[in-house]
Amino acid sequence: MQALKGRDFLSLLDLSPAELAELLELAANMKSGKVTARCEKILGLLFSKASTRTRVSFSAAMYQLGGQVMDLNPMVTQVSRGEPLQDTARVLDRYLDVLAIRTFAQADLETYAKYAEIPVINALTDWAHPCQALADLMTIKECFGQFSGVTVSYFGDGNNVAHSLMLGCAMMGMNVRVATPPDYQPNGSVVGKAKTFAGDRSEVVVTTDAIAAAKGTHVLYTDVWASMGQEAEADSRIPVFQPYQINSELLKYADPEAIVLHCLPAHRGEEITDAVIEGDQSRVWDQAENRMHAQKALLASVLGATFEG
Ligand code: CP
Ligand code: NVA
Repeated sequence: MQALKGRDFLSLLDLSPAELAELLELAANMKSGKVTARCEKILGLLFSKASTRTRVSFSAAMYQLGGQVMDLNPMVTQVSRGEPLQDTARVLDRYLDVLAIRTFAQADLETYAKYAEIPVINALTDWAHPCQALADLMTIKECFGQFSGVTVSYFGDGNNVAHSLMLGCAMMGMNVRVATPPDYQPNGSVVGKAKTFAGDRSEVVVTTDAIAAAKGTHVLYTDVWASMGQEAEADSRIPVFQPYQINSELLKYADPEAIVLHCLPAHRGEEITDAVIEGDQSRVWDQAENRMHAQKALLASVLGATFEG
């Protein structure tokens, strides 16, 4: 997808809805083998938080494209000793072709992107997880064949995953409902942007009522109640978030054909029950697989790979 060549992907807002749809189509075609891409470039992974899926799916995707990966663990680089981000960015720019960053503040990611000429990809910040949303949207399209008329309901914390999911669903014309405890609603500006994308073709609802959000929905989605960096609050959050657990009772309110998604890692017995994540309606393993296909399409596009097919 030539239009993305050389561009950053710091949030879904870096793409137009048409570009997002085209990227998802490319990812599906690369997954099925209809389209192949070759790109002998170097990806750097600069992760300040733990990761299984993002780290491994980015690495596998890059190797499959014919490229190489360098794991730039901040603890073994000068990043953890306080080298300014803008200096690190300008130096890494001279060695690498693309940089995927997992960090805390979105502003830090933006600083890296400002000082590095190469494409910078958001591999999760406290504010957004756009690569996750690519896989989520890809999975929803695989399950329902279309976006139009699909309702996606998110239960839990109005966090990074919720933000990107809301934006992505609204950009693709789906209805989106977010049910959270009163003090954990998604950022108002993200909600506003999602509403603008939805316009009058779909609905964006933020509520504290989990049952209302579940009624007739096609997709039930949840994430951990305490994100990375919020470990100290984990125990006190459990009773507050309990009414937002995805369990067999909540599932009864949804459409009978509804699917269940979770970005993983899951905390069984907290945001989702073991019976639901292991149940017939769970699509979490396909969703995790799609991280790799979606990011392969993204990497190939921002790197200006040669496509065939
Ligand atoms: N879903 C996700 O980003 O998982 P990791 O934290 O394991 O990368
Ligand atoms: N909201 C979670 C997502 C983990 C993939 C976190 O930021 O820790």
